[in-house]
Amino acid sequence: MRLSMRLIDGVQPPAESVSFTFEGKHLTAWPGEAIASAIMRAGIQTMRKTRIQGNDRGYFCGMGLCWECAVHVEGQGVIRSCSHPVVDGQIISFADGPFE
Ligand code: FES
Repeated sequence: MRLSMRLIDGVQPPAESVSFTFEGKHLTAWPGEAIASAIMRAGIQTMRKTRIQGNDRGYFCGMGLCWECAVHVEGQGVIRSCSHPVVDGQIISFADGPFE
């Protein structure tokens, strides 16, 4: 499967892709691409909802410190999406739990 996406001029996308779902939407990623990157390339900014008020949260620090990008991965639990690559077939959803 060939990915269609906006790229910086002169940059060629990899020929291969992996597939996953986020909140029931079928998405694709480059092999080794961070979950947060693949979600944002699909035009989605929200990766979790705050537990009490349900506010949107998403990518912030990009280096595994803030946990704003937390997502729930089936079989793994809550992880930081900026720090983990997409694995083919993953089922990912909004994180909820002990985050404000
Ligand atoms: S964006 Fe801060 S931990 Fe992922």
